[in-house]
Amino acid sequence: MRVAEDWLQISLVVEGADTMAMVEAVFERFGAQAICLDEPGEDLFEPLPGAMPLAASMRVSALFPAGLDFDSLARAIAKEIPGVGPPSVETVGEGWRAALAERPVPLRFGRLEILPALEATAVPRAGETARVVLTPGLGFGSGRHPSTALCLEALARHRLEGKRVLDYGCGSGILAIAALKLGAARAVAVDHDPQALLAAADNARRNRVKSRISVLSPERLRARPLFDLVIANILAGTLIDLAPRLSASLAPSGRLILSGILAGQEEEVARAYAPALSLRARHERDGWVSLELGAGMGR
Ligand SMILES: C[S@@+](CC[C@H](N)C(=O)[O-])C[C@H]1O[C@@H](n2cnc3c(N)ncnc32)[C@H](O)[C@@H]1O
Repeated sequence: MRVAEDWLQISLVVEGADTMAMVEAVFERFGAQAICLDEPGEDLFEPLPGAMPLAASMRVSALFPAGLDFDSLARAIAKEIPGVGPPSVETVGEGWRAALAERPVPLRFGRLEILPALEATAVPRAGETARVVLTPGLGFGSGRHPSTALCLEALARHRLEGKRVLDYGCGSGILAIAALKLGAARAVAVDHDPQALLAAADNARRNRVKSRISVLSPERLRARPLFDLVIANILAGTLIDLAPRLSASLAPSGRLILSGILAGQEEEVARAYAPALSLRARHERDGWVSLELGAGMGR
């Protein structure tokens, strides 16, 4: 069956992160333009900071352009992922594209640009732009939340060429990937949520930085080597709990960027990192604050 409509949404309900990744891989091979994970009745595009449930079963939906050979796709899924499917198919006309187009894309932070995958081929890239392309729906971190935006602004301000970067609480991997696109040599992306790790690895592959990134659960983060830049966008209480670990990961001349802090909470957070690290800069956006800390006095 060849379908003539403009856009098709193909969906499958699957169980387990491995199966999810296999379905995504088949969808991508058949030309998916956007992939979205959700639970029935729940939108995971941008959950609250710190909240990223991994449900037992998830729906993986993908958007395909006209001309998709649906029968071949269904056969590939049946053959490669036994026990899954069959996929459901629904025509969506321009609805999904229009919904994405309503979002303010691309997001810009200095020479950094953040684009949802669906828009990536449609937007020409200017010479110096460092572009990060993200799959909507995979992990917290689309760039639209003020706490993420503060981190992206900070990354765009810093000279990252050749630097080692730790992104702790990586979600979609947006910060680690942005750092690599801005010239960092290596990045380590850490999250305690398996779904975030999947999303970060997937986005790293999409952005062709997989060979320069390690995506890890917290237990697998080694004490050495130290990082030139550590960035963490998590809630204030977690940043306080993580103070010993994040401080110990930072090279003596390194910088620590903390975000996810509500205005009014910053003194408490900064206190947890003193006296080893002191405040270098503070930035605020829509009631959210980011702090930049470094060792010793002054710059
Ligand atoms: C607000 S999101 C930030 C995502 C992305 N870095 C960004 O800036 O948009 C926080 C992330 O930290 C993770 N997280 C929360 N507490 C954590 C902890 N104690 N250890 C590791 N990851 C944690 C969550 O799973 C979530 O993916």
